[in-house]
Amino acid sequence: MSEPESAAAWPPAGCALVTGGSRGIGAAVALALAADGWPVAVNYNAGAQAAGEVVAAIEQAGGRAVAVQGDVADPQAPERVFAQAEEQLGAPVLALVNNAGITRDNLAPSLADEEWDAVIATNLSGAFRFTRRALKGMMRARTGRIVNIASVSALRANAGQSNYGAAKAGLIQFTRTVAVEVARRGVTVNAVAPGFIATDMTSALIGPDLLAAIPARRAGSTEEVAACVRFLVSRQASYVTGAVLTVDGGLGA
Ligand SMILES: NC(=O)c1ccc[n+]([C@@H]2O[C@H](COP(=O)([O-])OP(=O)(O)OC[C@H]3O[C@@H](n4cnc5c(N)ncnc54)[C@H](OP(=O)(O)O)[C@@H]3O)[C@@H](O)[C@H]2O)c1
Repeated sequence: MSEPESAAAWPPAGCALVTGGSRGIGAAVALALAADGWPVAVNYNAGAQAAGEVVAAIEQAGGRAVAVQGDVADPQAPERVFAQAEEQLGAPVLALVNNAGITRDNLAPSLADEEWDAVIATNLSGAFRFTRRALKGMMRARTGRIVNIASVSALRANAGQSNYGAAKAGLIQFTRTVAVEVARRGVTVNAVAPGFIATDMTSALIGPDLLAAIPARRAGSTEEVAACVRFLVSRQASYVTGAVLTVDGGLGA
């Protein structure tokens, strides 16, 4: 039986990688993990300037971070992103947050192949390939944390999001399955399922009707999601694996 993590130093001698860390939830997660002492690789696709600002904010707070470009939908991305992150931060990735995600909403009868494929490739296949790559080092180190950012749309139907809901539901079952595969190696794999969080992704959607449907009567903040991710990455969450933590103001209750 492996030693309980409560006996080991934390964070371990590794770095954290946050995909889509340049804006929104990912940026808040990167800042939160850095505040816990993790050197952080901030992955982005197009937003080099935004990623640089997240790195600067982490450094200003006394932490360490680097920005690493890579399109998570590109099957070649994990090798390149991990190599850059691990070389520049000088440590293996021992915490991975699969946060990068997109929407291409449309009702199913009108949904184009490209809209289906782009969402599956980014939100599901990307998380799979980044997880597969991360597990190499984590299993060797016999410790690791993987947190996948799912969505309330995986758990309840949201018209216009059959592609997104399918990808996020797939991500949840991927999370649970990998969790049981690697649990005895000291690696935990969990999902966080946010409801409506105020970011660029939802800025066009959040209005009075939507807020009235949320029991808390407000959108969530990126910091409220990051706090949950921070817990799942912490030493204290060492016995939590295969879980889905909803952060939705009661929307899915
Ligand atoms: N906001 C919500 O209400 C909500 C609710 C449930 C779940 N979520 C999930 O939470 C995650 C973050 O959402 P958000 O609201 O923070 O989104 P956002 O504000 O639109 O930010 C998306 C982030 O993902 C990055 N990204 C997008 N495509 C990428 C790709 N192919 N490769 C690498 N990075 C990519 C973006 O980087 P660039 O700018 O560089 O492209 C950006 O940093 C997503 O998985 C989303 O599905 C959000």
